[in-house]
Parts: sequence; structure tokens; C-alpha cells
Amino acid sequence: MKTTVQINKKINKFNKIIYVPGDKSLSIRFVLIASQAIGKSIAHNILKSEDVISALNAIKKLGIKYKLNKNYCSIYGKGLDGFNFRNNTIINAQNSGTLARLLFGLLINSKNQIILKGDKSLEKRDFSRVIKPMQMMGLNILSNNSKLPIKIKGTNFPRPINFFESIGSAQVKSCILLAAMKTPGITKIVSIPSRTHTENLFGYLKLPIKIKKEKKLDLINFKGMKNYKGFNYIIPGDISSASFFIVLTLLTKNSKILIKNVNVNNSRIGIIDILKKMNGKIKIKSKKIYKGEEVADIECEYSPNLKGIKINPKINSRTIDELPLIFCLVCAKAKGISSAKNLGELRHKEQDRLKFVLKFLKMIGIKAIEKNNNLKIYGNPKLKLNGSYIIKNFMKDHRAFMLSCVAGLTLGGKKWTIHDKDSINTSFPNFMTLLKKLGAKIN
Ligand code: S3P
Repeated sequence: MKTTVQINKKINKFNKIIYVPGDKSLSIRFVLIASQAIGKSIAHNILKSEDVISALNAIKKLGIKYKLNKNYCSIYGKGLDGFNFRNNTIINAQNSGTLARLLFGLLINSKNQIILKGDKSLEKRDFSRVIKPMQMMGLNILSNNSKLPIKIKGTNFPRPINFFESIGSAQVKSCILLAAMKTPGITKIVSIPSRTHTENLFGYLKLPIKIKKEKKLDLINFKGMKNYKGFNYIIPGDISSASFFIVLTLLTKNSKILIKNVNVNNSRIGIIDILKKMNGKIKIKSKKIYKGEEVADIECEYSPNLKGIKINPKINSRTIDELPLIFCLVCAKAKGISSAKNLGELRHKEQDRLKFVLKFLKMIGIKAIEKNNNLKIYGNPKLKLNGSYIIKNFMKDHRAFMLSCVAGLTLGGKKWTIHDKDSINTSFPNFMTLLKKLGAKIN
């Protein structure tokens, strides 16, 4: 179904308290890790979006029962060897790269073959990054050009590996850790830092994981084959979803927002560090530790004096999903030049997001230069739009849709027509409802 929204008015000032839905990375990890526990696990505030439903459908096809109620989700795990399914069972990860890549790890000891599929966007993405370590661990993989659909069959003898994770990808790191759970011996990963949710959850479950943080690398040692019991988890709000509201507030005159109960794990809040350096008025309040994660309220205000920034590439993986939002809206409206480097990973997401950023900035009349995945943006705080803008053909990339809505509500212009509203169902189904709660007029 095609769904299109129209925005022809900026949002008026607002001052509100909101909650964003549960963190997507943690929700998917909860489902997969609970499927390996012995007994019942329960999550409150799990994200009810298509990516998470795909994860629940996947474990169900692998023989694990779950219940999804209004208030909580229960999963009835059967231990590390508990999957039970017919040969050639088809699993469709739909749009979720995280689910598809993490599933490779969980299937390391599967006795039957799985055919793993995805939607149009996921079937364009490259899986060589997980195929390589999984083959080293003994997984049997049949693929055409490292793209889905891929046939996967486990081994009776998973092998621990020493692996250098050089991309800074939490999906690759987590895939290896999930496989290592079912592998005798110690798996060692030397990794460019990336989001740490899998390690944190393992730590909370008292699995034998050791992490040493060096200047530029994380050294992870993990000993497999330890069973664990079902557990309870309250999933905090998703910083990636909160980010659209942070930027909306920074760019809306006299506005203020308090976003309650958000996951502010340091490996995820690169956006906050970047926006603060750009003179964004943002505060992290009431920070608490919850089961290895950090949770807090985020307060932010209209910030009229945004300035350009030279983004240190070390921060990229701490805000990989928010970079397009920062570039297209905040750098565009900041005074001076902003620059960022080593952005190649943006080309491997739901669409080529670097290409999208360049197209978007050109459309709104902001000069941007890209060379070898390095980017320069010539910001303009006086940017006044008066044309009509159409956003379409973006591979149903949910984040492209949402940033375009924030653009329509903050940058002005006669009319914004933004296609593929249903894309938000993958990560943030109540995005439009929340915008409307703040007073946005959207048709
Ligand atoms: C995710 C990791 C990131 C991110 C994705 C979610 C995760 O991907 O872009 O949206 O939950 O592990 P990479 O690890 O491939 O960078």
C-alpha cells in the first residue's frame, strides 16, 4: 500500500513531555537472547514494530513459543540447543538487517537447513560481513553473491574464533557473540567500538564475558556453553527515535521538550555529543543504571546559535543511524562548514544513506561536497524555503521518511509531499501520533 503525507506549515512552538517507544536494538536482542534461556522471560515496553514482530515470527518458526500482550511480551526459551524446526524452513527477516545478521549466529548449531529471506531493501544488502566469521565458526552457508536469500545449516562442532571486527559493526560483533554462546571454548573479538547492548545483556545474565577497553579497540573474551535462566527486562526508550524530536525541538522557536526514560548508553549517544558541540541546548537528567544500560530523561530547547562542526570519525559508530538527520537538518541550518569523514557505512543501510543526504541537501539548496565518503556541508542559518518538495524512492527507509517530516515542520516551504509513510512501522509506528501531540499539522 502506498501512503503519502503532506506538510504545508511549520510546527508552532511547543513545551511537552513525551515518551518514545522501546529501543529497537534491545527489543530484538531481548527476543533472540530470551529464546536461548531456560524457561520464561518477560519484557515490558518492548517495541511493537515490524522489525521486532519479524524477530518474534523467526523464533516461532524455530520452535520457540511467545506471547505478546498489550503490556508485556513473554518468551518460553528452551536453552542453547532448543530450536526445533523442519528442514528448509523459510524465515523472512523483512526489513531488519539486525535480525537477519544476528540470526546467523543463533543458527550455528542448527540441525536442519534454514532459508533466510528479506524484503527488497534487505535483499540488496551485503552479508559477507557475517558470512566470513560464521564460516570460520563452522556454519554452512550457501549464498549468491553474499545477498539474501541465503541457505544456512549449522554444525555439530562449532569452533571458537579469534576475530578482528574492523567495521565497527554491532551487528557483526553480536552475531559472533550469539554463535559463541553455543560454542565450547573462548571466542576472542578485537573490535572497533560499536553499540554494547549484547555484551551488557550477557554481563547482566552472568555469562562469562570479559571486556577490556583500549584506546581505539575493545578486546572481548567470551566463553561459551553456559546455560542461563529466563529473565525479566524493562526496555527503555530508543535514542534513535528520540533524536527526531530532539532535532525538531532544537529547530523550533521557543520550544522545549522532555523525553522521558531513554536509553543513553554511551555507545549510542554520539548525537548528543555532536549537537552539544554545535551549541544545541540539551541536558541529560536523572541518569540511572539499569541492568548494565544507562537510562535517563533528555531535556532540550530551541537552539538559535547552531554552529558547524568537524565530526571526529571515531564518533560515527556511536551515532550511525542519526548521521543523516544531523547532516540534512542540523548541519544545514548551522553557521559555517561542517565536515565528517569515513562515511562509507552509511551506504550499507536500508538505502545508500549518503546518497540520500546529498540529494536532500541539494534539493533544499544547501551546498555539500562528497569525496571518497568524506562530506562537507556549507550550512546556512538563514535558510528560507519557499518551494514544493517531494521525497520519494528512498527504499522505504524509515529514517529518511522521519527526517523529511521534521524538515517539513521546521524548514518551511510551500508544501512537502513525503511518500511511504508505512516505512515507520519498522521502528516507530506512533511517530505521526507523537508529532501531532506536539501540534504538528500533517495531512
Ligand atoms: C544495530 C547496529 C547498527 C545500526 C542498526 C542497529 C544493532 O548497524 O545501524 O540500525 O542493533 O546492532 P551496524 O552494526 O551494522 O553498524
